[in-house]
Amino acid sequence: MSRYHIDPLSSTFGARVSGIDLSRPLNESDSVSLVDDLMKYRVLVVRDQTLSHEDHIRVSRVFGEPEIHVQDQYTVPGFAQIVTISNIHRNGVPIGLYDGDNEQEWHTDLSFQPAMSSVSLLYSVIAPEVGGQTRFADTTTAYDDLPEELAAQVDGREAVHSLVHLFEQQAADNPAKVPLTEAQRAKTPDVVHPLVRLHPQTGRRSLLLGDTIIRNIVGLSPAESAGLLDQLHAHVTAERYVYSHRWAVGDLVIWDNRATMHTASPCDHTRHQRLLYRTTVM
Ligand code: SIN
Repeated sequence: MSRYHIDPLSSTFGARVSGIDLSRPLNESDSVSLVDDLMKYRVLVVRDQTLSHEDHIRVSRVFGEPEIHVQDQYTVPGFAQIVTISNIHRNGVPIGLYDGDNEQEWHTDLSFQPAMSSVSLLYSVIAPEVGGQTRFADTTTAYDDLPEELAAQVDGREAVHSLVHLFEQQAADNPAKVPLTEAQRAKTPDVVHPLVRLHPQTGRRSLLLGDTIIRNIVGLSPAESAGLLDQLHAHVTAERYVYSHRWAVGDLVIWDNRATMHTASPCDHTRHQRLLYRTTVM
């Protein structure tokens, strides 16, 4: 029997989980319920947790096996499955991913890989007082609500996801951005994914987008591709499909990458530090 409480955050997606201590091993019933609740709500917010890196990995394994991030300079020493997300710089060098003050980029984690990720778990250790929220978009409800004419345009279409393209765009805004190494570029050739995905567990369709990582939609001219992507992003990121999470220390947010996308919000690193740890399960 499940011992935790669940309170929806909106009428369509997101839920707050309370009455659970993830620093202790979960019983079978709570593990099964957490997976079921993630499938149902797509984003789960668990506040007031005190998690070691070992705990973080153990909780991640409820959902699958955590992946080692290709930007391995940001993985936590001794815990290769955990990647640092931070705007802190040491000696002028960022200690983690998403170091830019304005690195807003709607995406689904690891969409630059041929095998898509399923679930991410992001744990907050230093939370900024101003800015730095993570915004989640419900790509599933947004797909259901797509106007007919847009639905017809995405049907059967595929898009090229490119980490190299993402870095080129971000370097233009953030001169401190550390470029991909040759080895990292070699490991991440461009990949093609459908614009509409069928969720393997829920059977629901969702849009797979990304406003910086997508190089182009296959078979469209650059102008047509950019035009269609702009329309799709405007639809999916309308406030009615978005939950914005303001971080507090000890928050763990778990999301289904097959049913949502997300972005960081602006944060001035000279005034407000931000440090989180993320695992991503394949
Ligand atoms: C992420 O994409 O996993 C991190 C989002 C954020 O920095 O808010």
